[in-house]
Amino acid sequence: MTQELATIIDFIRYGASRFGAAGLAFGHSYDNAIDEATHLVLHALHLPHDLSPAYGQARLTADEKQRVLDLIGRRIDEHKPVAYLTGTAWFAGLQFKSDARALVPRSPIAELIQAGFSPWLEDRVVTRALDLCTGSGCIGIAMAVHNPEWQVDLADISDDALALARENIEYQDAGDRVEAVKSDRFGGLEGRRYDLIVSNPPYVTEHEYAALPPEYGHEPALGLRAGDDGLDFAMRILVEAPDHLTDEGVLIVEIGESEKALAALLPEVPFNWIEFNVGQMGVFLLDRDDLVEHAQAVREAAKARAK
Ligand SMILES: C[S@@+](CC[C@H](N)C(=O)[O-])C[C@H]1O[C@@H](n2cnc3c(N)ncnc32)[C@H](O)[C@@H]1O
Repeated sequence: MTQELATIIDFIRYGASRFGAAGLAFGHSYDNAIDEATHLVLHALHLPHDLSPAYGQARLTADEKQRVLDLIGRRIDEHKPVAYLTGTAWFAGLQFKSDARALVPRSPIAELIQAGFSPWLEDRVVTRALDLCTGSGCIGIAMAVHNPEWQVDLADISDDALALARENIEYQDAGDRVEAVKSDRFGGLEGRRYDLIVSNPPYVTEHEYAALPPEYGHEPALGLRAGDDGLDFAMRILVEAPDHLTDEGVLIVEIGESEKALAALLPEVPFNWIEFNVGQMGVFLLDRDDLVEHAQAVREAAKARAK
């Protein structure tokens, strides 16, 4: 039956149909079967991800067909995210290495980085930035590449994630301005202050984690789970961030669906919920001034939650 398939477009269409029929979950870089199949087919053929559509009618050799069919089969049988099958993921217009040592890059913060954080940073000057809970390093490295005058630290508790982040620093040739630091939250960053702290910490509730599709089981649970309300990390970051922000510093944190729980827990804190092209995505921004002003309420809420 697959002998009838000949061209690049044929294989993308076939892969997408099989993915759809198999009921796969699409939550890793891509939100639909066509885009996943396109990434997978172009990768197997060693072609650029932005290949001109004019090549869609190009025919595959027998060897190439087999390579593509093997990958399509593995995506279905193993439920592995495409990024782990190909070893690559795209984020903020850049290619990163991706494997099971860290989550597949997919944060909406990519859109902010590509927009130069406009209008949020206004005229603020950023010299030093931190990507806390960096995983593959995608957010911090993309910030450095898009802002050639920034020095960026990447922090994570996981040795595996840091090893991948270091490979990505090298891959993006950003070693002169980006440093990967082992740190349990801010624990390894004593004395360091930043004009901008960006974090995509774990924020999946235990209930949500138990219901995630098998694709997520390939990712390190350390990067996902964050207690009953998903706020284990967000709350600690709110408590600890003021000591690591400069006076004019800004904190940006992604907490996804846990946005409602956070807003309910701290109604007096003026979180700025950022609008993305696809809508609100549970990413907030706070000035250090606001964090300091509401520090007591934040500490009390954190203490009450911990009981
Ligand atoms: C949701 S993943 C985000 C990865 C990456 N920033 C991204 O957007 O793809 C969260 C990361 O937090 C790290 N992490 C978990 N607990 C941590 C802790 N106590 N201190 C620092 N990092 C931690 C995990 O290892 C994981 O890499």
